Amino acid sequence: MTVQAESWYRQAEQKAAHYFASLSAQVKAKTYAPALTADFEIWKQDHIHSPSWLSFLSRRGRKPDASDYDKYIQWLNDAGKLDAYLDRSVSYMYMRDLGKALDSPDTQTRIQRCIAGIKKHLLHSSATNGGGQPEVMSLAKAYRWAQKEGVEDAVIWVIGKLRSVSAHIPEGMDAEQAQRKLIKIIVGVVLHAAEEMDDDIVPAERARRLDEAIRLGYSYGLTYPFIDDLLDSQVLQEHEKEQYSGMIRSALVTGTVPEWEEWAGKNKDMLRFIHLELRDAFEYIKGYQLPDTERTFFEQSYVFFHSQDLDRAKELSNPNYTNEELYLPIILKSASSRLIVRSVIRAPEDEGFHHRTFCYGIYNQLADDFADMFDDMRDGAVTPYTYYLKYRGQRKDLINPFELYWAVISHLIHNVYHSDAKSREVILDRAINGLKRCKQRVGNEKYNELMDMFASGIPEFNRLIQHMVRKADEVDFFDKLLRDQMVTALKNERKEKEQFFDTIKSVRHQINELLPIPKHHGIPAMKETLIDAANYSLEGDGKRLRPILAWVMGVQEYGLKASALVPLLRSLEYMHTASLIFDDLPSQDNAATRRGRPTLHQAHNSATAELTGLFLIQKAIEEQASLDGFDPNTVLALMRYSSQKAAEICMGQAMDLQSKGQALTLEQMNMICFYKTGIAFEASLLMPAILAQVNETEMEAMKKFAYHAGIAFQIKDDLLDYEGDQQLLGKPVGKDAENNTSTFVTILGHEGARREMWEHYSLASEALRAMPRPIAFLKHLLNYMVHRDS
Ligand code: IPE
Ligand code: IPE
Ligand code: MG
Ligand code: MG
Ligand code: MG
Repeated sequence: MTVQAESWYRQAEQKAAHYFASLSAQVKAKTYAPALTADFEIWKQDHIHSPSWLSFLSRRGRKPDASDYDKYIQWLNDAGKLDAYLDRSVSYMYMRDLGKALDSPDTQTRIQRCIAGIKKHLLHSSATNGGGQPEVMSLAKAYRWAQKEGVEDAVIWVIGKLRSVSAHIPEGMDAEQAQRKLIKIIVGVVLHAAEEMDDDIVPAERARRLDEAIRLGYSYGLTYPFIDDLLDSQVLQEHEKEQYSGMIRSALVTGTVPEWEEWAGKNKDMLRFIHLELRDAFEYIKGYQLPDTERTFFEQSYVFFHSQDLDRAKELSNPNYTNEELYLPIILKSASSRLIVRSVIRAPEDEGFHHRTFCYGIYNQLADDFADMFDDMRDGAVTPYTYYLKYRGQRKDLINPFELYWAVISHLIHNVYHSDAKSREVILDRAINGLKRCKQRVGNEKYNELMDMFASGIPEFNRLIQHMVRKADEVDFFDKLLRDQMVTALKNERKEKEQFFDTIKSVRHQINELLPIPKHHGIPAMKETLIDAANYSLEGDGKRLRPILAWVMGVQEYGLKASALVPLLRSLEYMHTASLIFDDLPSQDNAATRRGRPTLHQAHNSATAELTGLFLIQKAIEEQASLDGFDPNTVLALMRYSSQKAAEICMGQAMDLQSKGQALTLEQMNMICFYKTGIAFEASLLMPAILAQVNETEMEAMKKFAYHAGIAFQIKDDLLDYEGDQQLLGKPVGKDAENNTSTFVTILGHEGARREMWEHYSLASEALRAMPRPIAFLKHLLNYMVHRDS
C-alpha cells in the first residue's frame, strides 16, 4: 500500500512539475505582460469612470463601509450595482469552487438562477430585519432552509456536530476561523452535490442526496481544523505531531483508521476526541464510495495530505530550496483540496473540471499567501513570498512569486478559459480587488514598499496595475463580505454566549441566596416542619431559569432596581417549585427524584408535600404583595395576571394527566405544553414588563416568543426524558413512558419531536428578530433551552 501511495504522489508531482515548468517559462519570457496589458485595456472600460460632478453633490450616494452589511447591500441596490456585484461573485464561485467553465450556456443559466435567488433573499432580509444586527448566520435560517429541502435531520445532526467541534477547538487555535472554514466546506460540498443533480430530479431523491452531502461535507471539512490547522499550530508537542500525523498517514495508506494507542503527550484527551470524530468521518466517506471511486478518493486524499506535510516541513532558515521544492507541493495541495470534493461525493470523473481545478489552485494559493505575507513572516512560515523576501538578494534563481502570480492569471485567462470574456472579467476583478484590500489593510507606505520589492521587474506593467488599483471600481465580492461578516458574527456570538453564561451563573447564585424561607425566632416547632420541607425543595439543584429571566429583563432591559425586584424573583421560583412538588406526587407523575435528591413526598409523605406546595404558593403571593417599590395599582395588575396564569398552569397539568395513553393531535399537544410549561416562561418575561409598564406591542412580541420558547423547552424536556442522562438531569428518565404520558416523543417519535422542537426554536427566533430591540440574552437562552443536557 505504501508503494502505491508513493507512486500516486510521484505521478501527481510530475503533472505539477510540468505545469510549473510552463508557468516559469512564461515568467522568464515575460509573455504575460503584453497579454494582460491588452486584457486590462478592455477590462478598464467597465471599471474606470471619470467621476460625474453630480456625485460630489449627493451625499446620499456615498458608498457606505462594507462592514455595515445591510446598508452596503442596500446601497449597491440603490446605485444599480447589485446585479453586477452578484454576477461577478457568483460567477467566481462557479469558477473557483465548482470548477466550471463560464462560457457554457448551461452554467450561465445556473449562475443566473443562483443570482436571482440570492438577490431575492438579500433584499427580503434587509427589509424585514428589525433593529437587530444583520444576521449572516442563524440556526433558524439554516433550519428553514432544511425544511424547504427536506433535510431537517441532517441539519439538526450537523448543528450538533458543529457545536461539539467548536467546544473542542484547543486554545491556541482560532476557533472562529475553524468554524468558518468548516461551514464553508460543508456549503461547498452541498453546492457540488446540487450541481450534480438534474433539474427534473424528484424532491425525495434531491433531499436524500443533499442529506448525504451535508454529512459528507462535515466529514471532509473536519480535516481542516483537526488535521491541517492543528498540525500547523503550536498546540501539539513535537512528538505528538509525529505520532498524530503517522496515524493519519497510516489511515490514508491502508484505508483503515488505526486504533487509538497509548498517548504520552499532554494533549491526550483532546486527541482522543479528535480520533473518534475523525474515524467516524473517515468511515462515513469510505462507506459512501463505490469500488471505482474509492481509489480516486484515497489517491487524492493522500496527495493532499502528503503535499501539505512536505510543505509544512520546510524551514525558513534553509537557504537551499529549489523553485520546484517550493512550488510543487503548493500546486498540489491547493489543487487537491478542491479536486477531492468531487471524489468525496463520488461524482463521476470530469476531465474539464479536473484540468481547470488543477490549474486554478495555485492562483488562489498565491493570492492568499500574498495577503498573509506579514503574518507568515512573523511566524517564520515558508511561503513563496516569505522565502523570496528573505533570499531574493542571494538567490538570483528564485522565481518572483508576484510575477508568477500574473503569469498564472494570464495562463488561466488565455489557456485554461480560452480568453472567454466573462472569465477575464471575473479573474481581473478578483486580482485588483486583492491588491486594493491589501493596500487598505497595510496602508499606502507599506504597500508601496511591497510593490517596490515584488513588482519592479516590468515597470510599465507595474504602472498599469497600480493605476488600476488606484482608479478601478466595482471589484468587490460577496464572498469576501460574507467571510468578514461571518467571522465578526462568530466572534460576537462567542462573546455574547460567554456573557450569557456569566450572567446565568452570577444571577443564579444571588437568587439561591434569596430563596430560603427564614424561620423567625420563637415560632412554634410545628410550623417549622413546613418551612423545612419548603426549604428542602428549594435547596435542590434547580436551574432557576424563571427568576433569572425576570431579573435580566427587569434589571438589564428595563433598568428596574434589583432590590425592588427581589419579591418577584422569589415568587416566581416558589410557584415553580410548588408546581414540581405537585407534579411529582404519586397521584400525578409519581417521581422519586427531583433536583438531584429524593422528592419531597419520598423524603416525608404525600400530605406534607401537598401542604408544602400550597404553602409555597401562598408565600409567593405574600412576596408579590410586598413589591412596595412600585405603584400599588401596577402591583395589583401583576397579581391579577399572576393568579390567572397560575390557574392556567393547573389546567395544563390536568389536561396532561387526562391525556395519558391517548392519541393526541399535534395541536392538542402544543396546547397542553403551552399551558403546563410555556405560561411560566411567559409570566417570567411579562411580570417585569408589567412592573416597568412596557407598551402593549412589546408585550405581544414577548408573548409570542415565550409561547414558542416554552414549547421548545418542554419538547427538550420530553426528549431528555427519552434519551437523557439521569445523573445530569437530577430526575428520573423514562418516566413518561412508564406513566404512559402523552408527550411530543410519543406522538411524533424521537426524530419527529426533535424537528418539532426546531420548528418552535425557529418561530421563537423569528419572533425575537421582530422585536423592536434586540435582546441578546433571549437569543442565548433559547439556544441553551434546546441544547441543554439538564
Ligand atoms: C422542569 O422545569 C419542569 C418543566 C416545565 C419541564 P426545569 O427544568 O426548569 O426544572 P428546574 O427548576 O431546573 O429543576
Ligand atoms: C411538568 O412537566 C410541568 C410542570 C411542572 C408545570 P413534566 O412532568 O414533563 O416535568 P418533569 O419532567 O417532571 O420535570
Ligand atoms: Mg408532569
Ligand atoms: Mg413530571
Ligand atoms: Mg418531563
